[in-house]
Amino acid sequence: MRIGILISGRGSNMVAIVEAVKRGEIPNSEVVVVISDKANAAGIEKAKERGIETLIIPKAKQTREEHDARIVEELKKREVDLVCLAGYMRLLSKVFIDAFPNRIVNIHPSLLPAFPGLEAQKQAVEYGVKISGCTVHFVDEELDHGPIILQRAVEVKQDDTPETLADRILQYEHQLYVEALKLIAENKLEIKGRRVFLRQEFQKNA
Ligand code: GAR
Repeated sequence: MRIGILISGRGSNMVAIVEAVKRGEIPNSEVVVVISDKANAAGIEKAKERGIETLIIPKAKQTREEHDARIVEELKKREVDLVCLAGYMRLLSKVFIDAFPNRIVNIHPSLLPAFPGLEAQKQAVEYGVKISGCTVHFVDEELDHGPIILQRAVEVKQDDTPETLADRILQYEHQLYVEALKLIAENKLEIKGRRVFLRQEFQKNA
């Protein structure tokens, strides 16, 4: 599985994926490129340090479709067959989704469908929920919306700030993303409508 990772910032989920691939936890896989839409994304240096090719493709004056088409072109050139969004803070257009049907995944720091969009951890603290968490899902054209692969619940503590909650959830994000990619690499998943199933042959009581 040739993985391309898209980032916009810190890149800690990207690092978690790269390290898991190196340890052999995501079988038959290779991270072939890390692409950022932001020139100053801290994750770019982290990818370079790990020997991964990096590209910066800023949106600049292009339309969303033109920008996405540029990124798709670079991914296809490298024969990427799975795209991981890891803190990539842009909504993908149809051009992008159609180029990689059911082959784009994202991680979001809440239990979707609660708190999509920006600052999910702040939304959770302000709403007063007692449990939040993280979600890995396939990407469609709607924001933080596609079929859910895995979720992990994380307690919201009384004295949490958005920052402390974000830090706690992030530890689980790193594990959950790797678990989801392992399932994809092993071809264990099947999507039916909104629902993602473990293929029958991999179910415990099959
Ligand atoms: C992560 O918490 C990720 O779940 C979130 O941005 C952070 C990126 O951190 N993504 C979203 O909110 C997407 N809607 P990272 O750059 O260190 O991986």
